[in-house]
Amino acid sequence: MDETEFQQNLKAFQDLSSAFFPPAIVLAAIELDLFTNLDAEPVSATTLAEKLSLDSSALKKLLIGLVSLGYLECEDLVYHNAPFASRALVRGKEDYEGDSALMSLWFMRLMGGLSETVRHGHGPESFEGAVSESAEKAHQLTHAMDQISRHYTTKLVEFIDMKGVRRILDVAGAAGSFAMALVKGYDDVKATVLELPHVAAQARKLIAQRDMQDRIQVCEGDFREVPFGENYDLIFCSNIFHLCDPQLCSILVKKAAAALNPGGRLVIKDMIPEKDAPMPQHMAMFSVLMPALSHGGKLHDEAAYTQWCIQAGFEKPERINCWERSSLLIARKPI
Ligand SMILES: C[S@@+](CC[C@H](N)C(=O)[O-])C[C@H]1O[C@@H](n2cnc3c(N)ncnc32)[C@H](O)[C@@H]1O
Repeated sequence: MDETEFQQNLKAFQDLSSAFFPPAIVLAAIELDLFTNLDAEPVSATTLAEKLSLDSSALKKLLIGLVSLGYLECEDLVYHNAPFASRALVRGKEDYEGDSALMSLWFMRLMGGLSETVRHGHGPESFEGAVSESAEKAHQLTHAMDQISRHYTTKLVEFIDMKGVRRILDVAGAAGSFAMALVKGYDDVKATVLELPHVAAQARKLIAQRDMQDRIQVCEGDFREVPFGENYDLIFCSNIFHLCDPQLCSILVKKAAAALNPGGRLVIKDMIPEKDAPMPQHMAMFSVLMPALSHGGKLHDEAAYTQWCIQAGFEKPERINCWERSSLLIARKPI
């Protein structure tokens, strides 16, 4: 490495080691719901601090940080939302992205303790433990998952052939957002969402708000313990295998095979590294979080899924790379 190259790398490293400042600032503002409170009318730091019971001096610094990042604008010490913040970070607006950002805040906190996670092989609380024990975390997760799913449903419905489908099981479906997207437009199709109790309670509320309660039923249960039932034509498992160890994955695939009608399909959506290819950077980054989020979870590669499916009696799964960051594997149960 010559000196010029070293200096360039040094600059890149310095930028990298402080790259957490902007997300920390913006995510704190979302957590404090500042953008919602600044949307109705521009206000000073003091007024906002009084309204939200915050420390006025610390808030002022945060607001200045948000101005420097382009999320707020300030005139005569009065702050208001910049256009993007006004559209995407105000609770209640159609394009609100704050709930999914709170998920990132959770991940950022886990990442802050990464060296401890690597030291012990697990984080302070698993994903499953957090949503099982705390109704508030479950509320956060359910809304975050619902918001994130919006970016995936259009392609999902395009790629899932619904011919012959009458009954769907969405395993660990959070708000049931994918189940709702799949049944939409097919009046004779019904879906069941299987979820942990706190999440199930939130899911029922969201489903009722969308007037889908006659089409989507929510069952409470731990997917490790409860049977999946029977007579399903499609079983959907999105973003759950990466939270499970290989043994549990194999069990879940077998449970799905037993619950499907002949000709039925298991649809898996996840980050799935391709066999014998280097892991793309976004997957390598996400995979670092796994020990903090789960017991034994990891990004399983396509060869592992194929093996579980074949062992469970499915045909070889078909892979569809319909999104940049995750893929579908569709395995059919022979007739
Ligand atoms: C990453 S989220 C995925 C949610 C949804 N499938 C999606 O893709 O939007 C994982 C989900 O698994 C649920 N979950 C985790 N462990 C579970 C278990 N043992 N039984 C049932 N659900 C579980 C969580 O409550 C959470 O909703």
